[in-house]
Amino acid sequence: LPALSNPLAPGSPCPLPGTADVGVPWTELGFSLRPTAAHVVMTWSEDTGAWSEPTLESEPYIKVHIGATALHYGQACFEGLKAFAHDDSSVHLFRPTANANRLRSSAKRTVMPELTDELFLSAARTCVAANMGYVPPASSNGALYLRPLLFGSGPRIGLQPSGEYKFVVLATPVGDYYKGGLSPVRGKVVTEYDRAAPRGVGAVKVAGNYAADLLPNIEGKADGFPILLYLDSATQSVVEEFSTSNFIGINREKNEFVTPKSPSVLPSITNLSLQQIAKDMGMTVSVRPVPLSELDDFDEVIACGTAVVVTPVNELTLGDKVYKFGSDEVGEVTMELYRRVREIQQGKAPDNHGWLEKV
Ligand code: PLP
Ligand code: COI
Repeated sequence: LPALSNPLAPGSPCPLPGTADVGVPWTELGFSLRPTAAHVVMTWSEDTGAWSEPTLESEPYIKVHIGATALHYGQACFEGLKAFAHDDSSVHLFRPTANANRLRSSAKRTVMPELTDELFLSAARTCVAANMGYVPPASSNGALYLRPLLFGSGPRIGLQPSGEYKFVVLATPVGDYYKGGLSPVRGKVVTEYDRAAPRGVGAVKVAGNYAADLLPNIEGKADGFPILLYLDSATQSVVEEFSTSNFIGINREKNEFVTPKSPSVLPSITNLSLQQIAKDMGMTVSVRPVPLSELDDFDEVIACGTAVVVTPVNELTLGDKVYKFGSDEVGEVTMELYRRVREIQQGKAPDNHGWLEKV
């Protein structure tokens, strides 16, 4: 496969955001994997005990051994982060070192080699630079989604960690995860399946967590619920999180932003950012166990994450009961949290917390 030259090398041409010559529908991207110019690949081997220099590849394929531990034993984890174009055509990653940090915790839990912040950031920057023309323009409301992926690529047949690993960063331009952008979605509380066990791997971003959620998701969608809320697996009495996003409940009377504390919830970087923004707005932020019964007290419910951003959830069905949160309009706190985080990402409000990393 062709290896491309590093677009960050001095003198390399770097096109402007939104100039990829492929008729990309910038304002109607949705969340799908569209072809881009290149991805980054690095290899770790037990022979060297170190990561190779990153290479850029244009063909979206990788050759791995049929005994690769990722394929058999799910030794794989990933990240998700976005790069945003600003009005001056500069491009900025949102909190990439937080993703580097979370990837290390996923790698540690699944016995894979870790990457330093420097390696992670340089691979992410190289990937964005190589795909600059695919960064949605500032006017589009989209972003370039980066998917860093770490997996065991070497063969083992007994249950053991691999002796070789690949780290890949791929990129694709994205818009809204759920149809309709900032419009409320209907959710279902899952009772037939569990997402994560208290001492399991729910708090890390490993591939198997998502395989386990495919069937519940398909069944949920068939029943008319685009989003699923999981409860704690031990008692099914405490709120955990959605399939691909964290749960936030807003109690307007108490001016309170509530989000579950649990050993089996993925620590969301978007959630942490919204907690800071909520504090900046003068709200009380409570990170604590959230009993199912508290669903009756929330005026607004939000699903938050890199892909879903801030998605209002206006109702949650649990058996015969339907919890309603506000009207069919987007709640006022949800709207304000969304507005503030998007303005920071898009360079329209000052980055007071130092969340943006210019590429
Ligand atoms: N929870 C789960 C299960 C996720 O897959 C994600 C997505 O990454 C999140 C929460 C949100 O995390 P973040 O805000 O870091 O993207
Ligand atoms: C993200 O928000 O970046 C995710 O990884 C969610 C993904 C499973 C769609």
